[in-house]
Amino acid sequence: MSKVVKLAVIGAGARGRGYASFAKAYPERLEIFAVAEPRDDIRRSFAEKYDIPEERCFKSWEEFCSHPKMCDGVIISTQDNLHEASAVACAACKYDILLEKPMAPTAESCRRIVEAVKSNGVMFAVCHVLRYTKYTAALQKIIASGEIGEIVSIQHLEPVGYWHQAHSFVRGNWRNEAESSFMLLAKSCHDVDWIHAVMGKKCTQIQSFGTLKHFKKSEQPAGGADRCIDCPREIESNCPYSAYKIYFRDRFCKGNAGWPTDVLTQAAVTNENLARAIAEGPYGRCVYACDNDVVDNQVVNMLFENGATASMTMTAFNAHGGRKTRIFGTRGEIDTDSRIIRIHRFLDDSNRVVDTEIANDGGILSGHGGGDFGLMNAFVDALSTGDQSKISSGIDETLASHLMVFAAEESRRTGRVVSL
Ligand SMILES: NC(=O)c1ccc[n+]([C@@H]2O[C@H](COP(=O)([O-])OP(=O)(O)OC[C@H]3O[C@@H](n4cnc5c(N)ncnc54)[C@H](O)[C@@H]3O)[C@@H](O)[C@H]2O)c1
Repeated sequence: MSKVVKLAVIGAGARGRGYASFAKAYPERLEIFAVAEPRDDIRRSFAEKYDIPEERCFKSWEEFCSHPKMCDGVIISTQDNLHEASAVACAACKYDILLEKPMAPTAESCRRIVEAVKSNGVMFAVCHVLRYTKYTAALQKIIASGEIGEIVSIQHLEPVGYWHQAHSFVRGNWRNEAESSFMLLAKSCHDVDWIHAVMGKKCTQIQSFGTLKHFKKSEQPAGGADRCIDCPREIESNCPYSAYKIYFRDRFCKGNAGWPTDVLTQAAVTNENLARAIAEGPYGRCVYACDNDVVDNQVVNMLFENGATASMTMTAFNAHGGRKTRIFGTRGEIDTDSRIIRIHRFLDDSNRVVDTEIANDGGILSGHGGGDFGLMNAFVDALSTGDQSKISSGIDETLASHLMVFAAEESRRTGRVVSL
């Protein structure tokens, strides 16, 4: 029988709490053994939920790492700019590591993490959850079977969604490069990594264009105010990005108080708390009057070692969710929406459809099309058996796709094609 894996959660925020819930579903496989979290109320409620005694509750990763090794591994789910220091320190303490994406905001930081992981011989996975979905597994099986021949090109769309862009990348945590990271790294490193995994070849050249086209002061409607609360009614009610529309009319008033609305307030999501957050907080700012600078549309072109190509489009201007991909092979093509895979074979012009739907239990582990669960399942399995091959987003493949992302961003900024 495999052992119960013991993990510490470093950063008990939205993602950390989500991954930890695996222990509630599978207590015979995972125990949340310790927590490092500076926010007192969050740390206390987390410790209570997972029955963690006071002596294993820490205010920071620094305090946690100052103690001798106490469990098998760590989930590092702090914000991007804390990943390098905490991952390097945890590797030095010989903890196996599950690190949230992106690894770190620069290629140099990523390389230092790689060096620390390799020199300490610890197991390592990055939360590239798209690799762990039932959908991706089914797609990779079809490709490996040779049904569409050799892949010649991939066309991939990441539809961020108009309200998700407004929430996270205009008003929220990932709006400003200096405070977090550039858009391709913050949002689309998943997609570049996924394209790289599906193609299964080394990328040799990359090129990108991208701009902040819409969410800027020059696009603000005449007469509009810098906060939704101050905006004239006729302008506010005609704005798809109005905070009152996104958080109140489209969600809270329809009984949905979960993400992203619950991000607005530390307190309970009530009518009063939400109204105060929109009146006073960052999520009530006009989308045309924020301190955002990340792009709202970007295209990336890739050339692979075998002559195959791929293109990716990230755009804010669509309904939320449902990445769409077309894969063109020498013997057939695939058209998919991240759930239904339509295959057309050239030999007999036949079609078949594979549906990879998963049950949505409303919990975070069904998030990302089941990828959040798949990732935790693989990581816990790897640690309990000592078999790193259970992890498909390990150190080498993750570094390779992160380097593609950094090169694409260099291309966007310089206007040059970048060789890898
Ligand atoms: N895999 C995905 O699909 C996905 C999706 C969203 C976010 N993310 C990434 O997950 C990470 C966390 O995002 P989040 O939304 O959970 O953020 P969050 O802000 O909710 O959580 C981060 C937590 O880290 C804590 N923290 C700060 N300093 C700390 C320290 N010194 N030691 C320990 N904890 C500390 C904060 O108090 C906070 O609770 C980010 O890197 C983000 O980019 C990944």
